[in-house]
Amino acid sequence: MSLIRMVTVVGARPQFVKAAALSREVRRGAEDSNGPMVEEIIVHTGQHYDHELSGQFFADLGLPDPDAYLGCGSATHGVQTGQMMERLEPYLATVKPDLVLVYGDTNSTLAAALVAAKRNTPIAHVEAGLRSFDMSMPEEVNRRLTDHVSTLLLCPSERAVANLELEGIHRGVYVTGDVMLDALRWAMPSESEVSEVTLRFGLRTGEFALATLHRAENTDDPVRLNSIMAGLGDVAADGLEVVLPIHPRTAAALGSDPVPAGVRLIKPVGHRDLLALASAAAVGLTDSGGLQKELYWLARPCVTLRDRTEWTETVDVGWNQLVGADRSAIVAAVRSSVGLDAPRPQLYGAGDSAKIILEVIGQWWVTTQAKGPAS
Ligand code: UD1
Repeated sequence: MSLIRMVTVVGARPQFVKAAALSREVRRGAEDSNGPMVEEIIVHTGQHYDHELSGQFFADLGLPDPDAYLGCGSATHGVQTGQMMERLEPYLATVKPDLVLVYGDTNSTLAAALVAAKRNTPIAHVEAGLRSFDMSMPEEVNRRLTDHVSTLLLCPSERAVANLELEGIHRGVYVTGDVMLDALRWAMPSESEVSEVTLRFGLRTGEFALATLHRAENTDDPVRLNSIMAGLGDVAADGLEVVLPIHPRTAAALGSDPVPAGVRLIKPVGHRDLLALASAAAVGLTDSGGLQKELYWLARPCVTLRDRTEWTETVDVGWNQLVGADRSAIVAAVRSSVGLDAPRPQLYGAGDSAKIILEVIGQWWVTTQAKGPAS
């Protein structure tokens, strides 16, 4: 099989985690006796540029340094997406990839998908088919549009496939499981490392709540933000200290406002430290997509600070409660979920998603080659 030249475009923190898992599998494949199948070229748009959100992740995750850094930083959605497209287009014109691979639902995802689609370069979308059915969220816009221009739609679950079917997308759809579980398996600290991390932050296993908060719909709306912070304060007053690694966007939104007693802001942490804190926490409260699943895999209940989620399966099985920004619902959900003991079916694959994704890409390439250049 000839080599597939694949450009992977990443830009935001969770994408580094997912890309690291797939890149490891690409490198493992290259060491196989069958020889390399994929030549991966990693492009970092620069969407996340702070060391704590970017560089530290590349280092911790063993992700090779990007082959290209586009240096697009923070800006309004239009400007950010446009700038990424402007810089990506000439790069793709030079590199001429056979495939562009994108992850999830950020502005980096959409920018890369649009540029590739306009160049008629096939696109593989990891985390295809997820829907929150809330088009006011920028991520929902990004994921829907990306799916509609993708050639390979790599879905974490059967429900994602059903979502695509509802939109008339039937071709190129595969269930691959969730590459984030591969990432968790690789990065998961040992029990003694978990204790070390917990101790380092002055916490006791099972006696604190881990919170993360960064989505625009929460940080950019002072009413929601205040209500959530008050809710976290109630959780602390109820007996569970709340540890909140703070995203720069949220730090800026909070400004110099005092945070409620018992809510401790800490700097953003790396993936391993986050997994350690999540596994030692009594409960997680978050508006992140990734942490909802990580808590599930770690058998920790999740209280989701959003009105809707694209990870609906975790809600259906009772491990995730959606509370939005409702102060009293936050503390009620924490009370009802601490100590939860319920079955945890395998919702998003078995942690071998990277391997499955590469198999799908390999099969697609064989078929494409067989059809010849005119197809
Ligand atoms: C982005 C994604 C979101 C994802 C998140 C992961 C979009 C629309 N949103 O949100 O889906 O869950 O990444 O973390 O793509 N900032 C810094 N330093 C940085 C990056 C950002 O200080 O390195 C601050 C800036 O004030 C910036 C703000 O954070 O304006 C928002 O950053 P942006 O990249 O637009 O989106 P995120 O909120 O990080």
